[in-house]
Amino acid sequence: MIEVKNVSKMYGAFPAISDVSFRVEPGEILGFLGPNGAGKSTTMKIITGFMPPTAGEVSIAGYDVVTESLEARKHIGYLPETVPLYTDMNLKDYLQYMGKLRGMSAVRIAQRIPEVIDICNLGDYYNTIIAKLSKGFKQRVGIAQAILHEPDVLVLDEPTIGIDPIQVVETRQLIKNLGGEHTLIISTHILPEVSQICERVIIIHEGQVIAEDTPENLALRLVGSERVDLDVKGPQQDVLVALRDVEGVREAVRIDGAPGSVPRYRVQSELGVEVRADLASMVINSGWDLLRLDGVIMSLEEIFLRLTTEDEVIQVGPTQEDADAE
Ligand SMILES: Nc1ncnc2c1ncn2[C@@H]1O[C@H](COP(=O)(O)OP(=O)(O)OP(=O)(O)O)[C@@H](O)[C@H]1O
Ligand SMILES: [Mg+2]
Repeated sequence: MIEVKNVSKMYGAFPAISDVSFRVEPGEILGFLGPNGAGKSTTMKIITGFMPPTAGEVSIAGYDVVTESLEARKHIGYLPETVPLYTDMNLKDYLQYMGKLRGMSAVRIAQRIPEVIDICNLGDYYNTIIAKLSKGFKQRVGIAQAILHEPDVLVLDEPTIGIDPIQVVETRQLIKNLGGEHTLIISTHILPEVSQICERVIIIHEGQVIAEDTPENLALRLVGSERVDLDVKGPQQDVLVALRDVEGVREAVRIDGAPGSVPRYRVQSELGVEVRADLASMVINSGWDLLRLDGVIMSLEEIFLRLTTEDEVIQVGPTQEDADAE
Protein backbone atom coordinates (compact mmCIF):
# COMPACT_ATOMS: atom_id res chain seq x y z
CA MET A 1 0.00 0.00 0.00
CA ILE A 2 2.85 2.35 0.91
CA GLU A 3 6.23 1.75 -0.61
CA VAL A 4 9.22 3.88 0.32
CA LYS A 5 12.32 3.11 -1.72
CA ASN A 6 15.79 4.45 -0.95
CA VAL A 7 14.53 7.87 0.01
CA SER A 8 16.97 10.59 1.03
CA LYS A 9 16.39 14.24 1.81
CA MET A 10 19.05 16.90 2.01
CA TYR A 11 18.40 20.27 3.62
CA GLY A 12 21.25 22.09 1.94
CA ALA A 13 24.28 19.97 2.78
CA PHE A 14 22.54 18.34 5.77
CA PRO A 15 21.16 14.83 5.20
CA ALA A 16 17.89 14.79 7.20
CA ILE A 17 17.18 11.24 6.06
CA SER A 18 19.42 8.82 4.16
CA ASP A 19 18.41 5.82 2.10
CA VAL A 20 15.19 5.06 3.98
CA SER A 21 13.20 2.10 2.64
CA PHE A 22 10.15 0.28 3.99
CA ARG A 23 6.73 -1.01 2.99
CA VAL A 24 3.40 -0.86 4.74
CA GLU A 25 0.82 -3.49 3.83
CA PRO A 26 -2.91 -2.69 3.52
CA GLY A 27 -4.59 -2.44 6.93
CA GLU A 28 -1.32 -2.40 8.82
CA ILE A 29 -0.48 0.08 11.61
CA LEU A 30 3.17 1.06 11.47
CA GLY A 31 4.84 3.00 14.25
CA PHE A 32 7.59 5.37 13.31
CA LEU A 33 9.68 5.81 16.39
CA GLY A 34 12.63 8.09 16.88
CA PRO A 35 14.04 10.83 19.09
CA ASN A 36 13.73 14.54 18.26
CA GLY A 37 15.34 15.38 14.97
CA ALA A 38 15.50 11.75 13.81
CA GLY A 39 13.73 12.52 10.55
CA LYS A 40 10.18 11.36 11.28
CA SER A 41 8.38 14.48 10.09
CA THR A 42 10.67 14.77 7.09
CA THR A 43 9.79 11.23 6.02
CA MET A 44 6.09 11.88 6.52
CA LYS A 45 6.16 15.09 4.51
CA ILE A 46 7.73 13.14 1.66
CA ILE A 47 5.25 10.26 1.89
CA THR A 48 2.32 12.67 1.76
CA GLY A 49 3.73 14.51 -1.25
CA PHE A 50 4.10 17.68 0.78
CA MET A 51 7.75 17.91 -0.20
CA PRO A 52 9.77 15.99 -2.80
CA PRO A 53 12.64 13.72 -1.79
CA THR A 54 16.19 14.53 -2.92
CA ALA A 55 16.52 10.92 -4.06
CA GLY A 56 14.38 7.79 -4.06
CA GLU A 57 10.70 7.08 -4.67
CA VAL A 58 7.49 6.75 -2.74
CA SER A 59 4.28 5.21 -4.02
CA ILE A 60 0.86 5.13 -2.40
CA ALA A 61 -1.65 2.60 -3.74
CA GLY A 62 0.62 2.30 -6.78
CA TYR A 63 0.77 6.05 -7.50
CA ASP A 64 4.08 7.88 -7.35
CA VAL A 65 3.73 10.76 -4.88
CA VAL A 66 5.79 13.10 -7.06
CA THR A 67 4.77 12.30 -10.64
CA GLU A 68 1.17 11.22 -9.88
CA SER A 69 0.70 13.50 -6.92
CA LEU A 70 -3.02 14.20 -7.42
CA GLU A 71 -3.99 10.53 -7.59
CA ALA A 72 -1.71 9.63 -4.70
CA ARG A 73 -3.13 12.40 -2.52
CA LYS A 74 -6.69 11.14 -2.97
CA HIS A 75 -5.60 8.06 -1.05
CA ILE A 76 -3.89 9.95 1.78
CA GLY A 77 -5.14 11.63 4.92
CA TYR A 78 -2.45 13.58 6.72
CA LEU A 79 -2.25 14.96 10.20
CA PRO A 80 0.83 17.18 10.07
CA GLU A 81 2.96 18.05 13.07
CA THR A 82 1.25 21.44 13.24
CA VAL A 83 -2.38 21.12 12.22
CA PRO A 84 -3.46 23.87 9.83
CA LEU A 85 -6.73 24.76 11.52
CA TYR A 86 -8.66 27.88 10.61
CA THR A 87 -9.34 28.77 14.20
CA ASP A 88 -11.95 31.47 13.57
CA MET A 89 -14.27 28.97 11.85
CA ASN A 90 -16.64 26.71 13.69
CA LEU A 91 -16.11 22.98 13.40
CA LYS A 92 -18.82 22.33 10.81
CA ASP A 93 -17.78 25.21 8.55
CA TYR A 94 -14.14 24.14 8.78
CA LEU A 95 -14.89 20.58 7.74
CA GLN A 96 -17.11 21.83 4.92
CA TYR A 97 -14.31 24.04 3.72
CA MET A 98 -11.75 21.21 3.86
CA GLY A 99 -14.15 18.97 1.92
CA LYS A 100 -14.51 21.56 -0.82
CA LEU A 101 -10.74 22.00 -1.00
CA ARG A 102 -10.43 18.26 -1.61
CA GLY A 103 -12.99 18.36 -4.42
CA MET A 104 -15.74 16.50 -2.60
CA SER A 105 -19.32 17.14 -3.78
CA ALA A 106 -21.64 19.16 -1.52
CA VAL A 107 -23.85 16.10 -1.10
CA ARG A 108 -20.94 13.89 -0.11
CA ILE A 109 -19.66 16.52 2.34
CA ALA A 110 -23.06 16.78 3.97
CA GLN A 111 -23.18 12.99 4.40
CA ARG A 112 -19.65 12.64 5.57
CA ILE A 113 -19.41 15.41 8.21
CA PRO A 114 -21.75 13.71 10.74
CA GLU A 115 -19.82 10.47 10.20
CA VAL A 116 -16.38 11.91 10.99
CA ILE A 117 -17.80 13.94 13.88
CA ASP A 118 -19.16 10.73 15.29
CA ILE A 119 -15.93 8.77 14.75
CA CYS A 120 -13.87 11.50 16.42
CA ASN A 121 -16.38 12.03 19.24
CA LEU A 122 -16.88 15.70 18.48
CA GLY A 123 -20.69 15.71 18.59
CA ASP A 124 -20.90 18.37 21.28
CA TYR A 125 -18.78 20.82 19.32
CA TYR A 126 -20.53 21.10 15.95
CA ASN A 127 -20.92 24.87 16.18
CA THR A 128 -17.95 25.63 18.41
CA ILE A 129 -15.33 28.05 17.13
CA ILE A 130 -12.15 25.99 16.75
CA ALA A 131 -10.05 28.51 18.69
CA LYS A 132 -12.12 27.67 21.78
CA LEU A 133 -11.40 23.95 21.67
CA SER A 134 -8.78 22.43 23.97
CA LYS A 135 -5.55 21.07 22.51
CA GLY A 136 -6.80 17.47 22.61
CA PHE A 137 -10.01 18.36 20.82
CA LYS A 138 -8.13 20.42 18.23
CA GLN A 139 -6.07 17.30 17.61
CA ARG A 140 -9.30 15.35 17.04
CA VAL A 141 -10.41 18.00 14.57
CA GLY A 142 -7.07 17.41 12.85
CA ILE A 143 -7.85 13.70 12.65
CA ALA A 144 -11.40 14.46 11.45
CA GLN A 145 -10.07 16.52 8.53
CA ALA A 146 -7.56 13.78 7.72
CA ILE A 147 -10.25 11.11 7.34
CA LEU A 148 -12.91 13.37 5.78
CA HIS A 149 -12.39 12.32 2.14
CA GLU A 150 -12.22 8.64 3.12
CA PRO A 151 -8.57 8.05 2.27
CA ASP A 152 -7.33 4.48 2.68
CA VAL A 153 -3.92 5.63 3.96
CA LEU A 154 -3.49 7.77 7.07
CA VAL A 155 -0.26 9.46 8.04
CA LEU A 156 -0.38 10.90 11.55
CA ASP A 157 2.61 12.89 12.79
CA GLU A 158 2.74 12.68 16.61
CA PRO A 159 -1.05 12.52 16.98
CA THR A 160 -1.06 12.56 20.79
CA ILE A 161 1.57 15.20 21.47
CA GLY A 162 0.58 17.74 24.12
CA ILE A 163 -2.65 15.99 25.08
CA ASP A 164 -3.48 15.25 28.71
CA PRO A 165 -3.35 11.61 29.89
CA ILE A 166 -7.12 11.07 29.84
CA GLN A 167 -7.52 12.41 26.32
CA VAL A 168 -4.43 10.50 25.23
CA VAL A 169 -6.11 7.22 26.14
CA GLU A 170 -9.17 8.18 24.11
CA THR A 171 -7.15 9.45 21.19
CA ARG A 172 -5.08 6.26 21.06
CA GLN A 173 -8.27 4.22 21.06
CA LEU A 174 -9.59 6.37 18.25
CA ILE A 175 -6.42 5.76 16.23
CA LYS A 176 -6.53 2.04 16.92
CA ASN A 177 -10.11 1.92 15.69
CA LEU A 178 -9.03 3.60 12.47
CA GLY A 179 -6.66 0.71 11.81
CA GLY A 180 -8.12 -2.18 9.88
CA GLU A 181 -10.06 0.10 7.56
CA HIS A 182 -7.02 2.25 6.98
CA THR A 183 -3.35 1.67 6.42
CA LEU A 184 -1.72 3.77 9.09
CA ILE A 185 1.65 5.29 9.83
CA ILE A 186 2.01 7.13 13.09
CA SER A 187 5.14 8.82 14.32
CA THR A 188 5.90 9.14 17.97
CA HIS A 189 8.70 9.25 20.47
CA ILE A 190 6.45 7.77 23.13
CA LEU A 191 7.24 4.09 23.57
CA PRO A 192 4.10 2.79 25.30
CA GLU A 193 2.15 4.32 22.44
CA VAL A 194 3.96 2.10 19.99
CA SER A 195 3.36 -1.03 22.04
CA GLN A 196 -0.31 -0.16 22.45
CA ILE A 197 -1.21 0.86 18.91
CA CYS A 198 1.26 -0.55 16.43
CA GLU A 199 1.71 -3.95 14.87
CA ARG A 200 5.15 -3.14 13.56
CA VAL A 201 7.69 -0.54 14.47
CA ILE A 202 10.49 1.16 12.62
CA ILE A 203 13.11 2.89 14.69
CA ILE A 204 14.72 5.83 12.95
CA HIS A 205 17.80 7.53 14.26
CA GLU A 206 19.79 10.33 12.66
CA GLY A 207 17.90 9.86 9.42
CA GLN A 208 18.47 6.12 9.13
CA VAL A 209 16.31 3.10 9.81
CA ILE A 210 18.15 1.17 12.52
CA ALA A 211 15.56 -1.45 13.45
CA GLU A 212 12.31 -2.83 12.11
CA ASP A 213 10.15 -5.48 13.78
CA THR A 214 7.04 -6.08 15.86
CA PRO A 215 7.28 -4.41 19.28
CA GLU A 216 7.27 -7.89 20.88
CA ASN A 217 10.00 -9.30 18.67
CA LEU A 218 12.16 -6.28 19.15
CA ALA A 219 12.02 -6.90 22.88
CA LEU A 220 12.28 -10.71 22.58
CA ARG A 221 15.32 -10.67 20.36
CA LEU A 222 17.22 -8.91 23.08
CA VAL A 223 15.71 -10.49 26.18
CA GLY A 224 18.16 -11.82 28.72
CA SER A 225 21.05 -11.84 26.37
CA GLU A 226 21.58 -8.18 27.01
CA ARG A 227 22.16 -7.75 30.65
CA VAL A 228 22.94 -10.48 33.14
CA ASP A 229 23.21 -10.20 36.92
CA LEU A 230 25.17 -12.86 38.79
CA ASP A 231 26.21 -13.55 42.39
CA VAL A 232 29.65 -15.12 42.58
CA LYS A 233 31.57 -16.22 45.63
CA GLY A 234 35.22 -15.63 44.77
CA PRO A 235 38.00 -12.98 44.81
CA GLN A 236 36.34 -9.87 43.41
CA GLN A 237 39.15 -8.53 41.23
CA ASP A 238 39.75 -11.94 39.67
CA VAL A 239 36.03 -12.48 39.09
CA LEU A 240 35.68 -9.10 37.34
CA VAL A 241 38.66 -9.74 35.10
CA ALA A 242 37.40 -13.22 34.21
CA LEU A 243 33.86 -11.98 33.49
CA ARG A 244 35.19 -9.30 31.13
CA ASP A 245 37.20 -12.00 29.42
CA VAL A 246 34.17 -14.05 28.38
CA GLU A 247 33.48 -13.73 24.67
CA GLY A 248 30.60 -11.37 23.86
CA VAL A 249 30.90 -9.43 27.13
CA ARG A 250 31.24 -5.68 26.72
CA GLU A 251 31.36 -4.67 30.34
CA ALA A 252 31.19 -6.16 33.83
CA VAL A 253 30.78 -4.16 37.03
CA ARG A 254 30.20 -4.84 40.69
CA ILE A 255 26.70 -3.76 41.80
CA ASP A 256 24.86 -3.72 45.12
CA GLY A 257 23.27 -7.06 45.82
CA ALA A 258 21.24 -8.22 48.79
CA PRO A 259 22.80 -6.98 52.07
CA GLY A 260 25.24 -9.45 53.56
CA SER A 261 25.18 -11.73 50.54
CA VAL A 262 28.03 -12.61 48.17
CA PRO A 263 29.12 -9.96 45.65
CA ARG A 264 26.80 -9.30 42.72
CA TYR A 265 28.04 -8.41 39.24
CA ARG A 266 26.23 -6.98 36.25
CA VAL A 267 27.38 -7.97 32.80
CA GLN A 268 26.46 -6.17 29.58
CA SER A 269 26.77 -8.31 26.53
CA GLU A 270 26.90 -7.40 22.91
CA LEU A 271 23.50 -6.96 21.33
CA GLY A 272 21.88 -10.26 20.50
CA VAL A 273 24.73 -12.40 21.94
CA GLU A 274 23.72 -15.06 24.47
CA VAL A 275 26.48 -15.19 27.10
CA ARG A 276 24.74 -16.85 30.03
CA ALA A 277 25.99 -20.40 29.41
CA ASP A 278 29.58 -19.22 28.92
CA LEU A 279 29.43 -17.07 32.05
CA ALA A 280 28.17 -19.99 34.11
CA SER A 281 30.82 -22.43 32.90
CA MET A 282 33.60 -19.88 33.38
CA VAL A 283 32.61 -19.35 37.02
CA ILE A 284 32.37 -23.08 37.72
CA ASN A 285 35.62 -23.88 35.89
CA SER A 286 37.40 -21.22 37.92
CA GLY A 287 36.38 -23.06 41.07
CA TRP A 288 34.11 -20.28 42.36
CA ASP A 289 30.52 -20.65 43.53
CA LEU A 290 27.73 -19.39 41.29
CA LEU A 291 24.82 -18.57 43.55
CA ARG A 292 22.55 -16.73 41.17
CA LEU A 293 22.34 -15.86 37.47
CA ASP A 294 19.58 -13.73 36.02
CA GLY A 295 18.97 -12.44 32.53
CA VAL A 296 17.52 -8.99 32.99
CA ILE A 297 14.75 -8.27 30.51
CA MET A 298 15.09 -4.96 28.75
CA SER A 299 12.01 -2.89 28.24
CA LEU A 300 11.30 -1.38 24.85
CA GLU A 301 12.38 1.86 26.46
CA GLU A 302 15.84 0.53 27.25
CA ILE A 303 16.19 -1.02 23.83
CA PHE A 304 15.29 2.27 22.26
CA LEU A 305 17.78 4.14 24.40
CA ARG A 306 20.40 1.53 23.72
CA LEU A 307 19.79 1.71 20.00
CA THR A 308 19.79 5.46 19.82
CA THR A 309 22.40 6.50 22.35
CA GLU A 310 25.24 4.08 21.65
CA ASP A 311 28.46 5.71 20.45
CA GLU A 312 28.27 3.37 17.57
CA VAL A 313 24.77 2.67 16.36
CA ILE A 314 24.05 -1.03 16.38
CA GLN A 315 22.04 -2.48 13.53
CA VAL A 316 19.42 -4.97 14.59
CA GLY A 317 19.15 -7.11 11.54
CA PRO A 318 17.94 -10.68 11.13
CA THR A 319 19.61 -13.08 13.56
CA GLN A 320 21.77 -15.99 12.43
CA GLU A 321 18.81 -18.28 13.14
CA ASP A 322 16.66 -16.28 10.75
CA ALA A 323 19.37 -16.56 8.14
CA ASP A 324 19.67 -20.32 8.68
CA ALA A 325 15.91 -20.72 8.34
CA GLU A 326 15.95 -19.20 4.87
N1 LIG B 1 13.34 23.01 6.72
C1 LIG B 1 14.45 22.54 7.26
N2 LIG B 1 15.66 23.06 6.96
C2 LIG B 1 16.80 22.57 7.50
N3 LIG B 1 16.85 21.52 8.34
C3 LIG B 1 15.68 20.94 8.69
C4 LIG B 1 14.43 21.42 8.16
N4 LIG B 1 13.45 20.64 8.68
C5 LIG B 1 14.06 19.73 9.47
N5 LIG B 1 15.39 19.90 9.48
C6 LIG B 1 16.38 19.07 10.20
O1 LIG B 1 16.23 17.74 9.73
C7 LIG B 1 16.34 16.81 10.80
C8 LIG B 1 15.09 15.95 10.87
O2 LIG B 1 14.00 16.75 11.24
P1 LIG B 1 12.53 16.18 11.44
O3 LIG B 1 11.63 17.33 11.68
O4 LIG B 1 12.21 15.28 10.32
O5 LIG B 1 12.71 15.31 12.78
P2 LIG B 1 11.62 14.60 13.66
O6 LIG B 1 12.04 13.18 13.80
O7 LIG B 1 10.26 14.85 13.14
O8 LIG B 1 11.82 15.31 15.07
P3 LIG B 1 10.76 15.74 16.19
O9 LIG B 1 10.55 14.54 17.07
O10 LIG B 1 11.47 16.83 16.94
O11 LIG B 1 9.51 16.21 15.52
C9 LIG B 1 16.57 17.64 12.04
O12 LIG B 1 17.96 17.65 12.29
C10 LIG B 1 16.08 19.03 11.67
O13 LIG B 1 16.81 20.01 12.36
MG1 LIG C 1 8.62 15.79 13.89
